This record gives sequence, C-alpha cells and structure tokens, in this order.
Amino acid sequence: MLRIKTLPGMEDILPEQMVKWQAIERKAREVFLVYGYSEIRTPLLEDAMLFSQSVGEETDIVKKQMFSFLIGKDKRVCLRPEGTAPVVRAYLQHSVFRRQGLVKYYYLGAMFRYERPQKGRKRQFYQIGAEAIGSNSPYLDAEIIYLVNNLLQAVAIDGYQIRLNSIGCLDCQANYKHLLRDYLRDKKDLLCPDCQCRAETNLLRILDCKNKQCREIIRSFPPILDYLCAKCKEHFAKVKRILTEIGINYVIDAHIVRGLDYYTNTVFEFIHPELGSQNALAGGGRYNNLIEQMGGEKQPAVGFSLGMERMMAISRLEPQVLPLHIFFALMGERAYDWGYKMLAHLRSKGISSEIDYQNRSLKSQLRKANRLKAKFVVIAGEKELNKGKIILRDMRKQEQREINLEKAEAELCALIPADS
Ligand code: HAM
Repeated sequence: MLRIKTLPGMEDILPEQMVKWQAIERKAREVFLVYGYSEIRTPLLEDAMLFSQSVGEETDIVKKQMFSFLIGKDKRVCLRPEGTAPVVRAYLQHSVFRRQGLVKYYYLGAMFRYERPQKGRKRQFYQIGAEAIGSNSPYLDAEIIYLVNNLLQAVAIDGYQIRLNSIGCLDCQANYKHLLRDYLRDKKDLLCPDCQCRAETNLLRILDCKNKQCREIIRSFPPILDYLCAKCKEHFAKVKRILTEIGINYVIDAHIVRGLDYYTNTVFEFIHPELGSQNALAGGGRYNNLIEQMGGEKQPAVGFSLGMERMMAISRLEPQVLPLHIFFALMGERAYDWGYKMLAHLRSKGISSEIDYQNRSLKSQLRKANRLKAKFVVIAGEKELNKGKIILRDMRKQEQREINLEKAEAELCALIPADS
C-alpha cells in the first residue's frame, strides 16, 4: 500500500520541536500582555474575495498563491494567506469600533500560500502577528516596531536588522507611480517578465524586485521618500525620531514596498542574515485605508507578522523540558495493581507520573525512566511487596531507600512540592 506523506511545503511539527515552539508562543503572549494586546482567532477558511479586496487582486499572493476552491456552485473560499485582512473583517463584522476606540489584537496561527517550497518558505507556515486599529499616531508605529524588537529579544534572537521605509499616503503613491511610469516608459523591455506585468498592474513592486537588471534600472530613480507630501514626511520623521529616542537602530531602505497592496506610510521588515535567501523574519506597516476600503469608516491602522518557522530556525531559546516527577518501575501483577492505583492518585494531585505499559524488564523500565528524566523512581516487585516495602530511588542524588507501603502515599506526595 502506498504510504501517504505530507504535501510539499507542509510539515509536521513533532513533539521534540514543540517544546521550543510552545516556549516561543509563551514568550510572545507575555510580550503582548505587557503591550496591552488581546488575542483574536479567526477561521482558517475565508471568503476568497476578502483577500482580493484587501491584499490586492494583482499581488502574487492573490494571483498565484491562494489555496482556493468552490463551495457549492459559486462560493469561492480560500485558506487564509495572511492574518491582517481576517482581523479587519472581524473588526468590522462585530462592530468593534462602536465599543472601543483603539483596538489592539494579536494572533498566532497557520497561513497558507501556494509558493515554491524551499528552505524557510513553506506552503503552510505559522505567523505571530498583531494589528492596532484606530490611531494614526506615530507613537503607535514605534510601538509595533518596539514590540517586535522586544519579542525577538524575549525568544533569544539577535543579529537582525530593521529596515524602514515610508510609501506615503495614496496621493503620494499616485504621484510617485506617475513619475515612475514616465521614467520606465522607454525601459520597459529591459525589465524582467514579472516586472513588465507589474509595470501595468502593480508598479511599486518593481522597486523591490530582486532581479539584477531591474535593480540596476531602478537604482538611478529617486526613492519614494523624496516625493512624500508634507504630512507624510512629518509622520515618518516623527516615527524615526521616536525610534531613535527609544534606542531602536534601523536603516532606511527605499526598496521596501511590501508585497501586499494595503500599505500606506510606514513599512518595515526585520531581516536576519542567518536565514539565507528567505531572510525576512517579520514584516509590517501602516494600512490607513484598508478599513474604509473594506466597507468601514476610515480608521488608520498598523501591524506586523513574524514567521514562526524562521524564528524557530534561529532562536537560541533552550526551554527546559518539564521533568517527570515519578516513574513507577514495577514487576509482576500485584506490583502493577498497587502502582497503578498510586499513579492515578498522584496524577490527580497534579504530580506527573509514568508507568511502563509494555511489560518490559526492570532494566528497560529504568532506562525509560532515565530517558524521561524522572526525578524519582519507585521500584516495586513481589519481593518488596512481601516485605511491605517499596524502593524509592532519587535519580539526581543516585541514592535509594526503602519506604513502608502504608507511608508510601504520604511520602511520595511530600516529595514533590518541595522539589518541583
Ligand atoms: P508578510 O511579509 O507576507 O506580511 O509575512 C510576514 C512574515 O511571515 C514574513 O516576514 C515571513 O517571516 C513569514 N512568511 C511569509 N511567507 C512565508 C512562507 N511561505 N513560509 C514561511 N514563512 C513565511 C504579512 O503577512 C502581513 N499580514 C503582515 C502585516 C500585519 N502587515 C500589517 N499587519
């Protein structure tokens, strides 16, 4: 029979990896709590239109990377490729704006993009992200960037670089696109095939094309920062000043325009050299028009997402596996009957305990206790029970002693609180 395997770009996360994974999630939750963000969970499956409306019809994500299919005759749904649009949908659907001024949400979860799988680029990947909706304050832009910075520190990642840019408001973008289109008029044939399409549909994306020749062509064109309106210039200057004052180092990178259409003003990426060609750890920015574009009242917003797999690859976090408190190494049916009752009792008191269910020799049971890093092992067989005793071995001190059966429960319970 054919053994079924995971699909390309989709991976199991095995228990040994989960220890670090969960530690990263735990640290992230702690950071979000400190910054006043609350968790939101949105469905994995959404109306496909949600993303064409928000991320943009002409973006790679919507055009090429959606896992979408029809439900019934004409309802096109898709696995979410990102988290911002679903959060905004939820914000509007539940009229959150009526109850709250500024909304600060965070999320953790799987996203799906039909990309060419490679190191650091999966078709199912996980993001940790946050969205702050309801303020255009440059302090909020700084808060989001500082939060990512704190979160990365909390999960023992350093050596990253923060790249910052502003792509201005829709007016700035329209003016700039106009100039860029003029500039590219007689150079279009020299662009890569993707950028030749982008020249028609998604002009700003040409700025972050990795193709050498496209880069060469675009290099001599002045950055969008030179064409921002006075308000957008002032906003960006303030964001930079606040970041400097709170001790955040960043570099201005005029090529950052981001691959999603909803951005306005501040955009940023956290890049890490150890990640290789897929070097973006996090990305985000402002999206001041998205809420209105999705049918709500105009509400400025800013957010980010971090790639979980990429964090896993470079985090130096070494979470402690919680040690097992007591392992029962038992020989014979009578010992099993006694040991199993004791195990059930200890577990109900929250004391982690384990037993061997495979009828193995005492030696292999002790090996298993070692592998599970048990703090204590209870050894019992016919011989011990006949004496009315069990053996208690302290695995760290490498000492053992006998205890009376009738005192076993009290002694075992007393072992742990002082030592856990
Ligand atoms: P994004 O830049 O598309 O932004 O993704 C954010 C992060 O997700 C990336 O920096 C990367 O670490 C990770 N990532 C993206 N695609 C993949 C993949 N195929 N495999 C592994 N990791 C990946 C967004 O998704 C925006 N929603 C961010 C945002 C939130 N902007 C405002 N609010």
